[in-house]
Amino acid sequence: MTFSTRDLSPRIGTEIQADIDTLLSGKHAAEIRDILEQRGVVVFKEVHMSDEQQLAFTGTLGNVIDEGEKGVYKVTLDTKENPQADYLKGAFFWHIDGTTLDVPILASILSAKKLSETGGDTEFSNTYAAYEDLSEEDKAKYDNLKVVHSLENAQQYVHPEPSYETMQMWRRVPSNTLPLVWKHKSGRNSLVLGSTAAYVEGMEYQAGRELLVKLRDYATQPQFVYRHKWNVGDLVIWDNTGTMHRATRYPLDSGRMMHRTKLAGEESFSG
Ligand code: OGA
Ligand code: MN
Repeated sequence: MTFSTRDLSPRIGTEIQADIDTLLSGKHAAEIRDILEQRGVVVFKEVHMSDEQQLAFTGTLGNVIDEGEKGVYKVTLDTKENPQADYLKGAFFWHIDGTTLDVPILASILSAKKLSETGGDTEFSNTYAAYEDLSEEDKAKYDNLKVVHSLENAQQYVHPEPSYETMQMWRRVPSNTLPLVWKHKSGRNSLVLGSTAAYVEGMEYQAGRELLVKLRDYATQPQFVYRHKWNVGDLVIWDNTGTMHRATRYPLDSGRMMHRTKLAGEESFSG
């Protein structure tokens, strides 16, 4: 039985060293959940879990969302492996998963199966830490702002000149109005930003767009960011309620393959 932890940077990311049996036993599940909330990202280096083990481990931490084949979703840009690969190109831009839902997913868990020869790191930004470091004046200014999020806004980064049909398809997913500052039940606050953030409600359109870019720039400064350079077999969990993430560019034909499981959300966005 092994279980030890090591922080990867001051504000975000902790590595846990543990063997698979220890992780599957669920003995440390509450502690892992706690570290995840406090540190945003939890890394298990070269733990090499099978799909079944990853699913079982995910189940020790909360309620598993069933997606993909047998509960495991293939994150890849290879359309032969995943027919939705095109849509996953949106992952090259800072985002939170599931902002078009009222209860976003709690966490995502990625296992590296095959890497790209170039690029393909994953970056995470701690949006709790970014909120904490705002001046009191800025906190007051942003406190009650509402931001409209849409799939269309995020997909526009990937396809700046969509066909009319494509645009209609994006728009079938209703947009969602979310607080800029998420006031969690725990009492902590985080910023809700990313590529789905289209405009600030009730604010002059361009001024709102400027604010969203300014805050994204601010929240993704090096002190708030952990960049994971993958090895095959690494497993990484992020707290999707207090981080943003993005993949760094990698070639579409690289063969990069990540297996993903997800934990269902437990708290709705609330401001
Ligand atoms: C995701 C995602 C990033 C990556 O699976 O939600 O954004 O590096 N993945 O593959
Ligand atoms: Mn994502």
